[in-house]
Amino acid sequence: MKKLKIGVIGAGRIGKVHTATLVQSVPQAEVIAIADTNVDQARKVAGIHGIQSVFSNYREVILHPEVEAVVICSPTDTHAAYIVEAAGAGKHIFCEKPVDLTIDVIRTALDAVNKAGVKLMVGFNRRFDPNFSKIRQMVTSGKIGDPHILKITSRDPAPPPAEYSAVSGGMFMDMTIHDFDMARYIVGSEVTEVYTKAAVLVDPAIGKAGDVDTAIITLVFENGALGVIDNSRKAVYGYDQRVEIFGSKGMISTDNNFPENHRYFAHDGVHGSLPLNFFMDRYLEAYANEMKIFCDAVTQNHELPVTGYDGLMSVAVAYAAKKSYLENRPVKIKEILF
Ligand SMILES: NC(=O)c1ccc[n+]([C@@H]2O[C@H](COP(=O)([O-])OP(=O)(O)OC[C@H]3O[C@@H](n4cnc5c(N)ncnc54)[C@H](O)[C@@H]3O)[C@@H](O)[C@H]2O)c1
Repeated sequence: MKKLKIGVIGAGRIGKVHTATLVQSVPQAEVIAIADTNVDQARKVAGIHGIQSVFSNYREVILHPEVEAVVICSPTDTHAAYIVEAAGAGKHIFCEKPVDLTIDVIRTALDAVNKAGVKLMVGFNRRFDPNFSKIRQMVTSGKIGDPHILKITSRDPAPPPAEYSAVSGGMFMDMTIHDFDMARYIVGSEVTEVYTKAAVLVDPAIGKAGDVDTAIITLVFENGALGVIDNSRKAVYGYDQRVEIFGSKGMISTDNNFPENHRYFAHDGVHGSLPLNFFMDRYLEAYANEMKIFCDAVTQNHELPVTGYDGLMSVAVAYAAKKSYLENRPVKIKEILF
């Protein structure tokens, strides 16, 4: 089997997950280079996985003559520039979400990708989670008839440090962006309008940093369906990731995933395990699936299931959600994308 030679940029939380996944679970990939401005961090990850080339400068990965595809896992404010450089060097690109926080910058990055004729996949891993891809399959095959109501519950186990908000773009761009993509994917229709109520209920430091930690977001879709997303940065019982879709012929819902499914019945109630704690546990299979699909699409020249367009649309919805919160009114996507 021809292996796709990959260079990873950024060896932090998600960089570690993607590198481990590529090495351990994706036989069609070979990670040959890794870069991180914190070169010790890159060295540590390289040491664990036997990666030959380690750099402190991302450009060494992009320009590495043997690297065919780059996996961008550095902070959000670097993504668009690295996409443009990688495309210019003729490298295929997997980039973590969001592509950027600004629509114009995303458009410039997507133009560079189109001009270079390389592939770009954005890291909306939840599409490849078996629970959610099953729901989508059932929706597509008509099991619920016409979709009427989508409900997404998406709560993290703990908030990130307040300083993370500054570069991440805040909760809507960093966290809810997955739910916006999931909403478009499950319903199979574009979001046309967003109305947000949000609050700081978890940690005042998040509010001081200009962000929110709790939100209810109402969505209207082009096909007439309605959706609601509820977010919290802190669920004391772990990562809460559930979806329900209701339509003219029925309803489908999925539960959280648990490390095992024992139930202990006693005088004081029925007890079980907490849900898998965070994305590194819950979405391991999804990360492996998305990387396999990316590698196959590059080596066999297939269409990608998640594109730069999906990256753009999710940011447009996130932008509308924030604007709606700030202006306390429903915001149409066409106010953002014109
Ligand atoms: N899809 C997902 O499930 C998921 C999960 C977490 C994070 N993310 C995204 O991945 C990106 C990284 O998030 P994280 O949580 O891993 O952050 P992190 O802070 O844990 O890691 C970022 C790493 O990049 C390094 N870095 C900083 N500037 C760099 C540069 N210019 N070039 C190369 N390396 C640089 C840092 O030293 C750090 O090791 C963010 O855009 C985030 O939105 C996606």
